[in-house]
Amino acid sequence: MSSVLLEFQTVSYTYPGATQPAIQHLNLAILAGQKTAILGHNGCGKSTLLFLADGLYRCSTGAIFWKGEPLHYHASALNQWRQRIGLAFQDPEQQLVAATVAEDISYGLCNLSLSKAEIAQRLRQTLQDFSLQDIADRPLHHLSLGQKRRVALAGVMALQPELLLLDEPTAYLDRLQTRHLLTELDRIQANGTTIVMATHDLDLAYAWADWVIVLHRGRLVLSEPAQQVFAQVDVLNQLQLGMPTLLECWYALPAAWRDRRLPPKTIAELWQYSDNGNCSAVPQR
Ligand SMILES: Nc1ncnc2c1ncn2[C@@H]1O[C@H](COP(=O)(O)OP(=O)(O)OP(=O)(O)O)[C@@H](O)[C@H]1O
Ligand SMILES: [Mg+2]
Repeated sequence: MSSVLLEFQTVSYTYPGATQPAIQHLNLAILAGQKTAILGHNGCGKSTLLFLADGLYRCSTGAIFWKGEPLHYHASALNQWRQRIGLAFQDPEQQLVAATVAEDISYGLCNLSLSKAEIAQRLRQTLQDFSLQDIADRPLHHLSLGQKRRVALAGVMALQPELLLLDEPTAYLDRLQTRHLLTELDRIQANGTTIVMATHDLDLAYAWADWVIVLHRGRLVLSEPAQQVFAQVDVLNQLQLGMPTLLECWYALPAAWRDRRLPPKTIAELWQYSDNGNCSAVPQR
C-alpha cells in the first residue's frame, strides 16, 4: 500500500482582509507514487491549496504534515520543506527571478549548499532533460510564455523534490507542447517524484490522473480514485464540471456495446475495444 506523503488536517485559510475563507476544513492525503489531479471551478481554491502545501501561506487553522511531521514556518524549516516539495506556479512570471535561463535554474541550486561542481552538473543535466540547451543563455524576457513555463518547471525539478505540485501546467501550451509535457511528467514520475496537478482540463485529468480531488468553494467534495470520480456523472453534472470528452462519447454509444466494459481512458483503448469490429476484448484494471 502507498504511504502518505502530504496530509492536510482540517486546514482553513482566509486571505488577509477577506470575509470568506478560500479553503475550509480541508482534510486530504497525497499518496506516494500516485498521480493526483485537483479539479474545480475558477476561484474554488486550487492555487491556494498548493500555496498552503508549499508553505507559502500559513494555515489559519489546522495543520499540514509531511510523512507525519508537521510543517513549521520558521525559515530553516521552510527551506527544508521546499527541498522536498516543489511548486511550479500558475503564472511562470511570478516564479522566474534571474536574467537568463541558466542563471534562473542555478539560482535555486545555489540555495542548497552544494559544491560548485555539483551545481554545474545538475544545471547541465536539467538543461538536457528539459531540452533547454539551445536557449540556456537567452534572457528570460525574450522567451514565449510556453518556454517560460518549461524553464520554471526545470528550475523546480533541478532541486529534485519528492513531491511536485503543478498549477495549471498546460495553460499557454499548444497540443505538441502539452504532449511533450506529459512525456516529461511520465519521466519525472518514473524517477520517483510524486506529482499533483491543479487543472481545469478535464480531458487531461481523465487521461493522466490515478486519483482526483474535487474542490468547490474552498471545500473538498471528492477525493477518490479517478475511475470512481468519473463514474459519478450526477455529481459532476451537479457541480457543472462537465465530463471528459472521451467519456461523453463513450456514454453516447449503445448500452449493449458498452456492456461489461470499463470506460476507455484513451482513444487507443477505445480502438482496442472495437478490435476490427469484434468487440470481445475487455481490459482488466
Ligand atoms: N491574494 C488574494 N487576496 C484575497 N483573496 C484572494 C487572493 N487570491 C485568491 N483569492 C480568493 O481566494 C479564492 C480561491 O482562489 P484561488 O486562486 O485559490 O482559486 P483557483 O481555484 O486557483 O482559481 P483559478 O482556477 O482561477 O486559478 C477565490 O475566491 C479568490 O478570489
Ligand atoms: Mg489557480
